[in-house]
Amino acid sequence: MKKIHSTEDFNSRVKQILITEEEIKAAVEEAGKKISTLYDGRPILLVSVLKGAFVFMADLCRAVTVPCEIGFMCAKSYYQGTVSSGVVKITMDLDQDVSGYHVVIVEDIIDTGRTLNDIVKLLKARNPISLHVVTLLDKPSRRLVDFKADISLFTIPDLFVIGYGLDYGEYFRNLPYIAEYTEEASDAE
Ligand code: IMP
Ligand code: MG
Repeated sequence: MKKIHSTEDFNSRVKQILITEEEIKAAVEEAGKKISTLYDGRPILLVSVLKGAFVFMADLCRAVTVPCEIGFMCAKSYYQGTVSSGVVKITMDLDQDVSGYHVVIVEDIIDTGRTLNDIVKLLKARNPISLHVVTLLDKPSRRLVDFKADISLFTIPDLFVIGYGLDYGEYFRNLPYIAEYTEEASDAE
């Protein structure tokens, strides 16, 4: 990644807005209603895997009307070549023992599917009452392991996207929309 040296440079990396702030807001509201209907008053534990899903988590938890706790974890998956070894290293674990909970994993994007596949396996082994996955974005064309979210807000093509929590080189998480990233200089001026 070319280092970002100014706001102008930062803005020039936004190639095109794919999903607007308003579209995200409407879809998050709808997902919150779906989750509230699904659990029908039963308490849930929303779990997000840092860092990408932190913005989605903040909005989604306020769109949910059932009693809910939130939890965060950091995980790193290990691979033998391109194949997941199935080993997930937890660099920061949940505070909660998930065995007493209806767990909802809140993810930013499913790309190859490896990370979530490993995390679901790991959390299922801890015997939650139930476990569902909600993802903001899904890139099904990139899948390497068979993984499907229970709720997916937007399906996107094979583009590298930034914004609404998603980063490139740790930047762009603060954009309120989802955009395609580019390093090509704009020829607009
Ligand atoms: P997976 O294990 O390949 O499904 O990886 C998913 C993780 O890769 C996500 O949680 C993101 O952190 C990151 N990722 C995948 N695609 C993108 C993208 O287009 N923009 C930003 N991060 C991405
Ligand atoms: Mg992520």
